Amino acid sequence: MDALLGWIEKRLPVMDAYKKHLSEYPMPKNFNFWYIFGSLAMLVLVNQLVTGVWLTMNYVPSGDGAFASVEYIMRDVDYGWLLRYMHSTGASAFFIVVYLHMFRGLIYGSYQKPRELLWLFGMLIFLVLMAEAFMGYLLPWGQMSYWGAQVIISLFGAIPVIGDDLTLWIRGDYVISGATLNRFFALHVIALPIVLLLLIVLHVLALHEVGSNNPDGIETKLPKGSKGEGYKTQFPFHKQYSGKYDVIDSIPFHPYGTVKDLVGVAVFAFLFSYVLFFNPEMGGYFLEPPNFEAANPLKTPEHIAPVWYFTPFYAILRAVPDKLLGVAAMGASIVFLFLLPWFDRCKVRSYRYRSKLHLANIIQFTISFIALGILGSLPATELYTYMARIFSLGYFMFFILLFVYSKNEATKPLPERVTFK
Ligand code: HEM
Repeated sequence: MDALLGWIEKRLPVMDAYKKHLSEYPMPKNFNFWYIFGSLAMLVLVNQLVTGVWLTMNYVPSGDGAFASVEYIMRDVDYGWLLRYMHSTGASAFFIVVYLHMFRGLIYGSYQKPRELLWLFGMLIFLVLMAEAFMGYLLPWGQMSYWGAQVIISLFGAIPVIGDDLTLWIRGDYVISGATLNRFFALHVIALPIVLLLLIVLHVLALHEVGSNNPDGIETKLPKGSKGEGYKTQFPFHKQYSGKYDVIDSIPFHPYGTVKDLVGVAVFAFLFSYVLFFNPEMGGYFLEPPNFEAANPLKTPEHIAPVWYFTPFYAILRAVPDKLLGVAAMGASIVFLFLLPWFDRCKVRSYRYRSKLHLANIIQFTISFIALGILGSLPATELYTYMARIFSLGYFMFFILLFVYSKNEATKPLPERVTFK
């Protein structure tokens, strides 16, 4: 067996990669609850891929057959209801986990140098995830699938000069039709998952190149050549092979990280199962009531709202009276997130050692984002539109204020070694 493994290893160093990226990956000792969401995102990804493949076995991607095939999956296919609810609950779970994962990066400054590229890959993942969810939502061919897609695709029409041609090109027809459904199906089940997987590999490689940040936001890497006590015994592999940097205050990912992440998986499984078995529609937030009615191009639902994870951005769109400017504002809200590493000019990463102003700014940003999320799911009355304007301002002010105060921020002294709370 050893000889066989050795033979393979010489030709394809699988164990090398396993040790480098998993079992002996140096994980800062002070990781806390916030660090479970990366692995949970991977778990949800696997759930989506597996249930998606099985759903595809009975789903019919055509304007005539789609709605009925989903009903068939729910009622007649053995455990079809389970597959479908796992996939629809998984979509919302994906966004919950990813939003918390991003929030962790925000509070601990994980996007700062040298992790900018890691953040950019994360943001690309976020974009692709949104596209994936949007296209997946058309597939059941319910009323909200149809009209939601109608609203979002028509936004592209606001772009000057090319707008009309672009919407036609996306839909593949003059209205949303079976042709649109077919192409969304192809993108949802093949093209975007491949891109997503590729981006996730790049995301993790970019992380492992520079090493993890931690709740204190201080380096756990030692400058080359310095004495990293503890390192030699704990990470013989890293020393020998990757040998790029010495680390302190770190422990091997296995068993410490794996066990810690398993606790997260157990808690997540409880919550996920609760929704899956007792409340799969989640009060109309995970599966919206109009979507239990087949798509009807002649009947517009009274109130069209996207699924909850899009509503913060949808609220920003609706807060601006002009369609083109609204689309631009919505686009800017994502672009600003991409540029976060360059808005923040502070040398200190974690909010723990930054100013009260920074903490206040993070809190106001969080409140604004949640408020926009709530407003985006409500009808656009005069009062709600007014409120959405205020919170949109809060959203953008976060970045602008950050840029202004972060340069000369009054920070606290950093500890030499990581701390435990
Ligand atoms: C499918 C989605 C994603 C997956 C599977 C994923 C996976 C991971 C994993 C496994 C880690 C290491 C463990 C951890 O720190 O939790 C990580 C770290 C990180 N991710 Fe993601 N990620 C995803 C999306 C994102 C997004 C959307 C962003 C932000 C735009 C992001 C930003 C980061 C950052 C900054 C770190 C390093 C955090 C630190 O060291 O403090 N990720 N990701």
